[in-house]
Amino acid sequence: MSWLAAGTALNPMPLAFNAAPALAGQASTSVVNLVAPAGSEPLKTFTLTAQVVSIGGREAWTFNGSVPGPVLRVAQGDRLRVTLVNHLPEATSIHWHGIRVPNAEDGVAGITQDAVGPGRSYVYEFIASDAGTFWYHSHQDPYNQIPRGLFGALVVEPLASPVRERDYVLMIHTVPGEATIAVDGHPNLHLAADPNETVRLRLINAASTDNYGTPLTPALVGAPYTIASLDGHDLNQPQVLGPEQITLGMGQRADLLFKMPSSGAVRLVGLSGAAKPLAFLGKASTAAVTIGTGAAPPHVDVGRLPRFDLTSYGSPTPDSILDDGRYDLTQNIVLGTGPGFHNGEFNILDTINGRTSPFVIPIHVSEGEVVRLHIVNSDKDRMWHPIHIHGHIFSILARNGHRLSGSPVRVDTVLVGPGETWDVAFRADNPGIWMLHCHVLVHALAGMSMTINYDGISTPFTMGSRSGNVPE
Ligand code: C2O
Ligand code: CU
Repeated sequence: MSWLAAGTALNPMPLAFNAAPALAGQASTSVVNLVAPAGSEPLKTFTLTAQVVSIGGREAWTFNGSVPGPVLRVAQGDRLRVTLVNHLPEATSIHWHGIRVPNAEDGVAGITQDAVGPGRSYVYEFIASDAGTFWYHSHQDPYNQIPRGLFGALVVEPLASPVRERDYVLMIHTVPGEATIAVDGHPNLHLAADPNETVRLRLINAASTDNYGTPLTPALVGAPYTIASLDGHDLNQPQVLGPEQITLGMGQRADLLFKMPSSGAVRLVGLSGAAKPLAFLGKASTAAVTIGTGAAPPHVDVGRLPRFDLTSYGSPTPDSILDDGRYDLTQNIVLGTGPGFHNGEFNILDTINGRTSPFVIPIHVSEGEVVRLHIVNSDKDRMWHPIHIHGHIFSILARNGHRLSGSPVRVDTVLVGPGETWDVAFRADNPGIWMLHCHVLVHALAGMSMTINYDGISTPFTMGSRSGNVPE
C-alpha cells in the first residue's frame, strides 16, 4: 500500500448525504420516475448473476461466474432488460458506462437507486440508442468490487452498417486479488484471424493500475491500422497509423481496425501495469495479445513509440457542439491532490475545486443548456485523471487551449494528463442527477467525484454509512 492508498482509507463517508434533496414548496421529479418510455423496440433480455467463484485458486466476484462477465451484444435500437441477481455477500449494482440511459437505470448506489442487497434482484431497462463499444460494472463500492471482477463488455452493433469484419472485444483488466494485467482473463491471449482478413479490436480499459492513474499504452504492431472509434463513437476519416502508443485511461475504449498481413501474426503490446510505486519489489506485469498465426512482428520498445494524438486525427466534419461556440454555462473543474483535513481527519485527498465528494458543489444545469467544462489538472508531475461523465456524451473542444484540428471527438471519458487542461462541452439533454468523477478508482474514493444536477430533479436515495450506499 502506498501513502496515498493508506491515506484515503481514512476518508470517511458521512452518515447520510443526499445529492439532490426535494425542496419543500418546490415541484420536483424524483429520479425513480426517469425511466425508459414504453415502446415496441426489439427486446433483449439478460440475467447477470453476481456471484463469488474461485478462479485459479483465487476468489473472484463475478457476473455469471467469469471475469470479465459475459459480453452483452445487441443491435442499435434494441431495448435491453437486464436482471441483476445478487448472490454476493454484499450489496451491489450495475452501471452502464457510456450508455445514455434514463437516470433511474444508471446504477449508482445512493443517487439513482439503493444498492441491491444479498439475495435480492433488480431490473434495468433502457434502449441502446448509440452504437459502439461500452461496458458495465458495479457502482456500489467500485473501489473494491471492480478489481474483484464485477465488470463486462456491452457492444451495440450499428443498424446502418452491421459488423462484417472479425470482431473481438478485448477487456484489459487486473486479475482479481492481484495487480497482474490480463486481457479477458489471460496474460497471453491468442486470437484467430485469416491472412488478409479485416479485424476489429474493441479495447476496453477496466484495469486499476497504480495510484497515479497511469494510463495503459496499447500499441498494435505488425499491421497498419486506424482508430475507428473512441469510447464507441466513430471518428471521421481516420488516417492509417503505424505503431503508436494509445494512451488509454481507465474506463476509456478504442476500436482498432486493420487488415491482417498475407502472412504472419499481429500483436497488441504495451499492456503493462505501468509505474508501480513499489516497483522495486517486483517488475510491473505485462500482457499481450497475438492475432493470427505465423511469425510474430519484430519487437518494438513501446515507450519510444510516438503517442497517438486525438486532437489532430481524422478530418473535420460538422459537430453541433464543437461548431456552436456558444455555451450557456462554463464551469471550471480543477483537479487537485494534496494533504488536507476531511471530516476532522488528516488525509491525502483528490479534490475537485478544492473539495472532496460528497461536498463538491454540483454543477446545476437546466434541460437544453449547452454546458462547457474547463478541466484543469493542477498536478504537473504524474497524476492522470480520466474524467467520466454519466448519461451524456461530450465533444472535446480543445487541449491546452488548442482547438481540435481533426475529426470531432465525442466521448464519455477524457484523460487529463499531468499539467493539462481540456475543454469539453455537452448538451444537457438527459435530465437526472449524474456523476462526474475520475475513473481511477482510488482517486474517486479519495474524493474526486461530484454530480451534475438538473433543475427540478431530486433523489430519495442517500449515500453514506446509514444507507450502506457507497457510490465511489
Ligand atoms: Cu465507469 Cu461512474 O463509471
Ligand atoms: Cu484521477
